[in-house]
Amino acid sequence: MSATAPQPVPTAQDLRARKGGDPLVCLTAYTTPVARLLDPHCDLVLVGDSVGMVLHGLPSTLGVTMEMMILHGQAVARGLSRAMMVIDMPFGSYEESPQQAFRNAARLMAETGAGAVKIEGGVSMSDTIRFLAARGIPVMAHVGLTPQSIHTLGGYKVQGRDAGEAKVIADARAVAEAGACAVVLEKVPAALADRITAEIAIPTIGIGASPGCDGQVLVVDDMLGLFTDFKPKFVKRYADLGTDADAAVASFAADVRARRFPGPEHIFADTAKGSKA
Ligand code: KIV
Repeated sequence: MSATAPQPVPTAQDLRARKGGDPLVCLTAYTTPVARLLDPHCDLVLVGDSVGMVLHGLPSTLGVTMEMMILHGQAVARGLSRAMMVIDMPFGSYEESPQQAFRNAARLMAETGAGAVKIEGGVSMSDTIRFLAARGIPVMAHVGLTPQSIHTLGGYKVQGRDAGEAKVIADARAVAEAGACAVVLEKVPAALADRITAEIAIPTIGIGASPGCDGQVLVVDDMLGLFTDFKPKFVKRYADLGTDADAAVASFAADVRARRFPGPEHIFADTAKGSKA
């Protein structure tokens, strides 16, 4: 392969092969420019249904539709050349039956070019994961706190404490045995995440879990300080772009009100003579 040949985009098999290796780096993206920014740094880029809350101002992920996921998936795909793209199946698009899940997963993959779909649920979704995996659809599972189930979970609570531990373990085992290529562990105690990571054969991707997971994921707007409606304990802010953007918009508003903008360098002369634009 020549030095300039594009690297092959990793597949679900490559992902499984990373079990126990260097930690997998994953962030969410919903747009082309952010996907471009992440592509050189991330192994995986997740088009998360968090898009509903982060970009569309919805109160939860429950109102996200297939059409929204397809539109954002297509935008993200345009910004990626080396990272693997994984796309969330929205609430209501896969729970009814394995057949419904296949139809919608196939549509998401065909229309966006994603390399895998992500679905929430453990034991209850294991037949669906097996059905999809056997038909050419790589599935990343998501257990622990599953935001599409907040109404049955009673909110965004830590999962797997005390008596809840057995359920999270059973869920992680079930999705691994069903053929998922990786599993997100969200908001579970660190010791439990470590135990699951040691036990199952597929990579665990932690969010509010443990540094011992096989990889980590965060919502990009959270870690850049752009989404500030709330800040879960598990988010580390690597930048404060929201504050920077607020200052920039305030400067623009002040300049416009004082007629300092546009300046001479931003306006056009009457004649094109000697002008570059
Ligand atoms: O929707 C999302 O962004 C997610 C991640 C937080 C794992 O599911």
